[in-house]
Amino acid sequence: LQASMTVDKDFVISEVDKRIFGSFIEHLGRAVYGGIYEPGHPTADVNGFRGDALEAIRRLQVPIIRYPGGNFVSGYNWEDGVGPKAERKQKLELAWWTTETNQMGTNEFADWAKLAGSEVMMAVNLGTRGPDEARNLVEYCNHPSGSYYSDLRIAHGYKEPHRFKTWCLGNEMDGPWQIGAKTAVEYGRIANETAKVMKWVDPSIELVACGSSNRGMTTFADWEATVLDLTYDQVDYLSLHTYYNNNKDETDNFLAKSLDMDQFIDSVASICDYVQAKKRSKKKIYLSMDEWNVWKTIGTSRASERWQVAPPEFEDMYNMEDALMVGCLLISLLKHADRVKVGCLAQLINTIAPITTVTGGGLWLQTTYYPYLHASLYGRGTVLHPIIRSPKYDSKDFTDVPYLEAIAVYNEELSQVTVFAVNRHLTEELDLQVDLRSFGGVKVLEHLVLEHEDLKAVNTLEQPQQVQPHNQGNARTDGSRVEARLSKASWNVIRLE
Ligand code: AHR
Repeated sequence: LQASMTVDKDFVISEVDKRIFGSFIEHLGRAVYGGIYEPGHPTADVNGFRGDALEAIRRLQVPIIRYPGGNFVSGYNWEDGVGPKAERKQKLELAWWTTETNQMGTNEFADWAKLAGSEVMMAVNLGTRGPDEARNLVEYCNHPSGSYYSDLRIAHGYKEPHRFKTWCLGNEMDGPWQIGAKTAVEYGRIANETAKVMKWVDPSIELVACGSSNRGMTTFADWEATVLDLTYDQVDYLSLHTYYNNNKDETDNFLAKSLDMDQFIDSVASICDYVQAKKRSKKKIYLSMDEWNVWKTIGTSRASERWQVAPPEFEDMYNMEDALMVGCLLISLLKHADRVKVGCLAQLINTIAPITTVTGGGLWLQTTYYPYLHASLYGRGTVLHPIIRSPKYDSKDFTDVPYLEAIAVYNEELSQVTVFAVNRHLTEELDLQVDLRSFGGVKVLEHLVLEHEDLKAVNTLEQPQQVQPHNQGNARTDGSRVEARLSKASWNVIRLE
């Protein structure tokens, strides 16, 4: 099988907003407690932050992390998580039916994120609360001093404001499972009024309005149009959430599902443009794909026994084909870098995550860690629109699925170009030719490959290196042409200079 790609410096899609490689940590399962925070763990620092987890996260260079939820935020009183830890209230947490100890809160998360090298994307509660608590939180986090909430932060030991820039106006407010779910009009109105006062406290912040919880919601599209109609002048981004899995064990169809993400992004962008046209506005709304991943345990019920503290939840084991899918989804985000400015792999640790810890023990990197790592490290710069020729296939839900899924990113500063490519073919190699005509002579820095004979192979604590990348890919160059034989069902990162 043969495929080709033509890439030219002039075929610019957009500069990548580095926040596209963001992630998400919710007070859910063992993401916080037993994940990033575990006082008493052999690698924990004085604040109780697990050193081994921090190291694995730092390696990913995660630019931004959404916090504290998720469904959790819709019942969260942020005041419960600040001030002396000994005085914090333990509360029933109704999103996941657990007990929240509040030992981690806004300030601790800001400290931890600094150590991780990440910005924080804060979410406010628009489920049980509204504009008042949200503007107080902005005052607490971002106002320098001289007001009740900013001085309270200082009294809590944080002289400098956190200056969080990106804020979510609630979470999945269209979902009946959400604490305080709303109709589009109810949500649009409260989001608009909340946005107004949050920006009056700090005009430098950027706001994300909730889009639909997923593309399958019956209110999808109408929800987006109504919410934007009511919030257009106050918000900067609209959120998209999407999860995929291969629970029916149809791998060819599963790997085609990144085409669904492509269509989802295109549809939401069209709705934003429709509202822009209707309003005759100069302002363009950008997209925040602030929850995306492979999620196999989706829809399974909450912890069987109620009110446990941080019970393990949704600890998916990712295999080789899941890593391919995550690779395809990262390529989809990059292809839409002109519109998608924030992306959050949901989530980062233990809960539907690329890193899994053992409470009191070690950790391992899941298969999906690697495409995420590669995209974050080598996907910064300008995304170039590749002209792709590839043989195609039809699957159960998709037609004309190209075997080759690929994108190129040019990092002008480093004079490097990286081609990310997935061969979706499950049994055959794909001979790829890349024409980099405007780049002159190029040479291969490295051709990283993630592949495994068994698409169901996983990493475990005992066998953490079952599925991991090697750099023995066979890409070679001749002037401005690159040739590479892509193994069946493989993720490839061809780094050139
Ligand atoms: O990421 C897990 C959950 O998925 C989030 O809490 C919610 O927003 C979504 O439904």
